[in-house]
Amino acid sequence: MNNISVLYGSETGNAQGLAEQAGDYLKNNSRYEVSVKDLGDVSVDDLKSLENILIVTSTWGDGEPPSNAGKILEDLQNTNEDLSNTSFAVFAIGSSSFPQFCQAGIDFDALLEKAGSKRLADLEMADDDYSDMFATWLSAIQAKFV
Ligand SMILES: Cc1cc2nc3c(=O)[nH]c(=O)nc-3n(C[C@H](O)[C@H](O)[C@H](O)COP(=O)(O)O)c2cc1C
Repeated sequence: MNNISVLYGSETGNAQGLAEQAGDYLKNNSRYEVSVKDLGDVSVDDLKSLENILIVTSTWGDGEPPSNAGKILEDLQNTNEDLSNTSFAVFAIGSSSFPQFCQAGIDFDALLEKAGSKRLADLEMADDDYSDMFATWLSAIQAKFV
């Protein structure tokens, strides 16, 4: 069965909550098999075997990924693996009060594209008040999976 994997990078639960929301919504509103996973539990090899990759991530420190997403981001930076059998979209949350606004999301988006993954949607970068943007993004994503 076709699958969608919602993967989250999250330090204090905001991005995780959105990923879980996306997982529930897509389970109820698509015929795809949907799973929600911590980016800390996913390897580049795992990514290769996925069909549709949705990443929801925050940014920490000075433009750093949240700690659960650091290893996979670094592995993607150092890999030559071909992800052209996958498709992806990234929803980034952050705060525009930081100079490196949504940098972790920008990095994931660029690295997945570089690895050949096919783009499902433009990168979204949401500020503290992300609920409406997320609902709009999720609905546009869901429309691709009916
Ligand atoms: C210490 C600290 C550093 C942060 N650094 C950044 C940053 O560099 N860029 C950014 O866009 N947001 C930054 N943020 C904002 C977080 O990404 C934002 O609060 C987000 O909602 C946290 O989501 P999470 O709970 O999923 O980790 C920072 C927040 C804190 C508290």
